[in-house]
Amino acid sequence: MRILLCGGTGYIGCHAYLVLAARGHEVTIADNFSNSSPQVLHRLETLTESSVNFHRVDMRDRLALAKLFSTRRFDAVVHFAALKAVGESCERPLDYFDNNISGTINLLQAMREAEVRNLVFSSSATVYGDPERLPIREDARLQVTNPYGRTKLVMEELIGDVCRADPAFRSANLRYFNPVGAHESGMVGEDPGGIPNNLMPYICQVAVGLRDKLSVFGGDWPTVDGTGVRDYIHVMDLARAHADALDYLAREDRNLTVNLGTGKGVSVLELVRGFEKASGRNIPYEIVDRRNGDVAEVYADPSLAQRLLGWRAEFDVDAMCRDAWRWQSLNPQGYASLFSTESDRALATA
Ligand code: NAD
Ligand code: WQD
Repeated sequence: MRILLCGGTGYIGCHAYLVLAARGHEVTIADNFSNSSPQVLHRLETLTESSVNFHRVDMRDRLALAKLFSTRRFDAVVHFAALKAVGESCERPLDYFDNNISGTINLLQAMREAEVRNLVFSSSATVYGDPERLPIREDARLQVTNPYGRTKLVMEELIGDVCRADPAFRSANLRYFNPVGAHESGMVGEDPGGIPNNLMPYICQVAVGLRDKLSVFGGDWPTVDGTGVRDYIHVMDLARAHADALDYLAREDRNLTVNLGTGKGVSVLELVRGFEKASGRNIPYEIVDRRNGDVAEVYADPSLAQRLLGWRAEFDVDAMCRDAWRWQSLNPQGYASLFSTESDRALATA
């Protein structure tokens, strides 16, 4: 298939690129580098030993999107392009709605005009808010607790309406739980700008000495050890699910909404211990107050994805920690050489 990855230089997108390219798909990336580095393209080229077809496009730019769709006849789009920081979304809700929802409307319009009718969408466990029952099934009540989550829910609904309006349009909503880890090469991985919001990149930065200690948000949750429990999933397992979802849309000709998690809850301290074992480094931590908006436990029932896609997570917490550590130890500053070479500068200003 000829596949367009919107937001494909981001953390999850670039791992999906590697899986899709390895399966023989012809993949094009579009991104505006608002939260990623041009370095990713060089790394992907090294790993795949071939050039990456890349377009610098902002999803909010309708003309640029129309032009992109005129360059090639795509069979399917995978839509990763969104802003994703919960705290920032509370401070800048308009930017989140503008980027995530306007960008998605533009993309759907460009797809309609180009008659591209297969979409895989990056949704999130955030659409479940504070779950009533665990593990979480896809038919659980949807309730969002912050503007970022609201944009994801609105995008799911918008895509659902497009499917109802055009019975030939096919979509797969993939509700990711907590993606962590990196490609086994250690050449691509998660590189948050500034202070990491999420647990695993924070642990990684403590391990390489960029930060003194981890703040554990609450030690009095009703969980196994008092710390928050989440369903961490290796990013390469997640990436594989995108290829499986594309196959499903082509094969079954039906829409799909599935959870992507391991089904196993892991506490903050369990992850810290797993990381210490994998890295051989001590991770100093301090238990502090709960973070606003956090919940005690979130983990998936991933059985629907197994039934429909034949997909299940294969990597365990040890592998997640091992690969996150390999990436961070090989790239202590992430893609810090951002804009450090002439070719990066050219790409960034193109
Ligand atoms: P990321 O920020 O690393 O990747 C998103 C990419 O989209 C970035 O490269 C960014 O530059 C690009 N982008 C954003 N707005 C754009 C725009 N207007 N035009 C063009 N490109 C744009 O994030 P990620 O972790 O790879 O997440 C990918 C998707 O998965 C997002 O939609 C996110 O909401 C969703 N998701 C992520 C997580 C997670 O914890 N990482 C969990 C659930 C869902
Ligand atoms: C995990 C656990 C924290 C940082 C977020 C988004 C969600 C989805 C995934 C996009 C919690 C604890 C964290 C730290 C800590 N993203 N923690 N110290 O909150 O489950 O989910 O990312 O869709 O929408 O909300 O992930 O990694 O931030 O937190 O103790 O410095 O680690 O309290 O228990 P979360 P997280």
